[in-house]
This record gives sequence, structure tokens and C-alpha cells, in this order.
Amino acid sequence: ILKNEPLYSGKAKSIYEIDDEKVLIEFRDDITAGDGEKHDIKKGKGHLNALISSKLFELLEENGVPTQFMEYVEPIYMVAKNVEIILIEVIVRNITAGSLCRRYPFEEGKELTTPIVQFDYKDDDYGDPMLNEDIAIALNLATEEELKELKELALIVNEILKKFFDEKGIILVDFKIEIGRTKDGKLVVADEISPDTMRLWDKETKDVLDKDVYRKDMGDVVGKYEVVAKRIGCI
Ligand code: C5P
Repeated sequence: ILKNEPLYSGKAKSIYEIDDEKVLIEFRDDITAGDGEKHDIKKGKGHLNALISSKLFELLEENGVPTQFMEYVEPIYMVAKNVEIILIEVIVRNITAGSLCRRYPFEEGKELTTPIVQFDYKDDDYGDPMLNEDIAIALNLATEEELKELKELALIVNEILKKFFDEKGIILVDFKIEIGRTKDGKLVVADEISPDTMRLWDKETKDVLDKDVYRKDMGDVVGKYEVVAKRIGCI
């Protein structure tokens, strides 16, 4: 594994250049909440997220969704295509939770009749504010056609993941994906898909199996990620 200076180092991942075409994504044990005001190191989290992300990207590829993913490299890495990340966090919600219930009069834990797709501006300085189409276009984040494609892609990803988790006894409450542009302008699902970026509840017990365990101090977060990894057959 080559370790030059990272191209980019975020709150929980670092990205290294392999060559013009490829990057190495490192899943660190760092965990943060509340825009980084809460930070801890949770041993083993990086490994589990690398495993879970790789598995879910493979699942998407098998279902015909283009992704940035190329291969998993033990223990905490993913080799991925070098893409330009669109600065929009694409959020899909099936059940009301999180910021939706903080900002709007939704009661938590209610199933939405139609999934909500939400675009947030990926910018910590501005606190990831929600976008509408006009603002996204005016900021040059994406074209009108791309925004349409982003929403379609997000809903397809939702259907695939929702069904997959349902079969494993897990409810996919909501999740965030990022989208990358390849050199030839194709849109691919990028970054990570892990319990850091999804809300997952046990179907029977409604036990929380995602980063909310850390956000809300509900106990052993790595233990919950391990449950997810086991249920979906990563370990
Ligand atoms: O906080 P909120 O309810 O808007 O989050 C919706 C979903 O998107 C959650 O699954 C959360 O983990 C994910 N998310 C994320 N990164 C962000 C914001 C939200 O992964 N910056």
C-alpha cells in the first residue's frame, strides 16, 4: 500500500492518489458528530466500514448501478476510480428521522408514503444547507440534467438497498450518497455507503445499528456496526 500525502483528508476517510485513473480510499477509525464538535477514535470501525461499503458497492454494481468502486483491499481500503465529486449530498428518506424531524413537524419513525430525496450543499463552513434546484444550478454544482439523473440514481439505489436490508431483517430508514463524475462525464455512485452514512434499525426490535448510537451516546457503536457486517455476510 502506497502512502504518499493524501489528496484529501476528511473527518473519517483519507484519499490517496494511485495513478491518474485510480485512488485509494482509507477508512479511518475516527468518528465525528455535530459537524466535528464531537470526535473519537473507535477501534475497528474503519475496517467494518470498508467491508460494508465494499459489499454495498458490489451489490449496486450487480444491479447495474455504476459506482466508483473497484476493489476492497484489506483491512481498511477501497481502490476506486478517480472521479470528481459533485458537492451535493444526496439524501434519501424512507422513514422520518434526524434533521427532518428537527426542522419540520414530522413525528419520528413514521413511514413516508413516497421516499424523500433531498439535496444538501456539501460545505462544512455553511453547515451543509439544503439546496433547491435553482441554487444548485446557480452555484454551478450540477446541470439541470445531472440533477434529474442524481434523483433517479438515488431512488434506484434506495430500492436496491431497501430490499437487500429488508431481507437481512434491517430497515433502511435513510441514507446519504455522493455522486462522482468520471473523466468522460458519466455519473457514478461514489465515496462510501456505511452505517456512518445510513440509518439502520433492526426490523424486529427497532434497535439502532448506525452512527446515531454515537451521536446520541447509546452505547457500543462498533458493536452495532459489527451486527450489520454479520447480517449482510461481510464477516
Ligand atoms: O442528519 P440527517 O437526518 O439529515 O441525515 C440523513 C441521513 O444522511 C443519515 O443517514 C445520515 O447519516 C446521513 N448523512 C451523512 N452525512 C451528512 C449528513 C447526513 O451521511 N453530512
